[in-house]
Amino acid sequence: MITLHYSNAMTSFVGPEGLTDEALQGAIVRTGPLCERVAKERAAGKYPFADLPYAEEAIAKVERFAEERRAAFRNIVHLGIGGSALGPLALQSALRPRFYNMLGVKDREFCPRVFFLDNVDPEETRELLEFCAPKETLYHIVTKSGETVETVAAFMLAIDRLKRAAGDKFREHVVVTTGARGLLRSWADREKVATFDIPEGVGGRFSVFTPVGLLPAALMGVPLRQLMSGAEMVDAVCMRIDPKTNVAYLLALVAYLLDTSRRKTMHVVMPYARALRDVADWFRQLWAESLGKKHSVDGKVVMVGPTPVLALGATDQHSQIQLYTEGPNNKFVLFMAPDKWRHDETLPEGLLPELSWLAGKKLSELLEAERAGTEASLTSAGRPNAFLELQDLSPRSIGGLLHLLEMATVFAGHLYNVNPFDQPGVEHGKKAAFALLGRKGYEELRTKLESGRRDRTKYVVK
Ligand code: PA5
Repeated sequence: MITLHYSNAMTSFVGPEGLTDEALQGAIVRTGPLCERVAKERAAGKYPFADLPYAEEAIAKVERFAEERRAAFRNIVHLGIGGSALGPLALQSALRPRFYNMLGVKDREFCPRVFFLDNVDPEETRELLEFCAPKETLYHIVTKSGETVETVAAFMLAIDRLKRAAGDKFREHVVVTTGARGLLRSWADREKVATFDIPEGVGGRFSVFTPVGLLPAALMGVPLRQLMSGAEMVDAVCMRIDPKTNVAYLLALVAYLLDTSRRKTMHVVMPYARALRDVADWFRQLWAESLGKKHSVDGKVVMVGPTPVLALGATDQHSQIQLYTEGPNNKFVLFMAPDKWRHDETLPEGLLPELSWLAGKKLSELLEAERAGTEASLTSAGRPNAFLELQDLSPRSIGGLLHLLEMATVFAGHLYNVNPFDQPGVEHGKKAAFALLGRKGYEELRTKLESGRRDRTKYVVK
């Protein structure tokens, strides 16, 4: 279902900026036992996110809710940020038509339009909340902690509008997906609105297969069983204890070695399929937040982590590839593309004799030629790259891809020797925002932040 081609990361293809066979084999001998360790830890319950595709009851509950409610609403407004938004957004882009929200109801197969609000931009917020009439809308409020300020602010605005429009019936228009504790859980329990759980051990960026991602997907008509069957199939591959056949481990290892031994500190994820653009964006968060760490698991200051960058082929060939081919040689480019497309276009014959070489070709052939061409130029310029090839863009392949990238992140966490499941830097920013907004209990931090502020007028120009 998914093939990793990594020849272009090797010196025999890309020259001295790649990895030698000896270096790769040596690293496999040293770190290959990780595969067995991860499989054992997995069996011992250390990676609850990896069990989600098998969580029959939770999946069935989501399906039932979607079946019952889907036809009742014209819109779903999903409120959440970071790991509470990027997964479902990726599922929408990958598995629904590109202009899904603009289609008529029949073409949407009688499923609601789904909009995401993952910011507190005043204009965007006003425009979306006004666009979706509350009486026609189901608000999906998603926050694991139950208190992230951006989500809480959007929740306040949405519920206020909704109560004014629907009165006591507002409850029928709200569903909350959250952790076991926190502000939103207490509110939802008190108000008796529908709720879904984010399991305790599953962090935001690993939550795409909880109701965070599955509920919007099911409401949009994505077949959850197919998505999960793909994740299950790839799960078996990620649990292989032979490191040479474990795709998730090898992807992590190649990326890690290129970063740490060849200074490829920027990891560019470049899908050649619009449907995969937001999958790459979801992965950008997963890779950055999981691996970018000050401390190693044994408490040493290490300050590690590659910088993930998102580029879209062929669009960004006309924006970024000049830099990637001739600028600093500090990047590892990971291409992604499907082998089969859901539909295609054939370029018409007989329009212009000068274009006869293009006529009759399919757009998929053109795009693949562009990808292969970019791959060849990067390789001949000595820039390491690899290719994750998907069989197709079916729910099964997308489920498999997401699971593969999650497991690759776990392996990378082990290789960098950091905890991929925490995010102290993010938590710090959240607390600073609470303090500056005057939340009770954060007075000391506020004083500290304010006393640290200097007079910045000296370095201002108009
Ligand atoms: O991956 C993570 O843990 C974060 O990106 C969170 O998802 C993000 O900060 C939002 O947090 P919450 O779901 O608690 O509102």
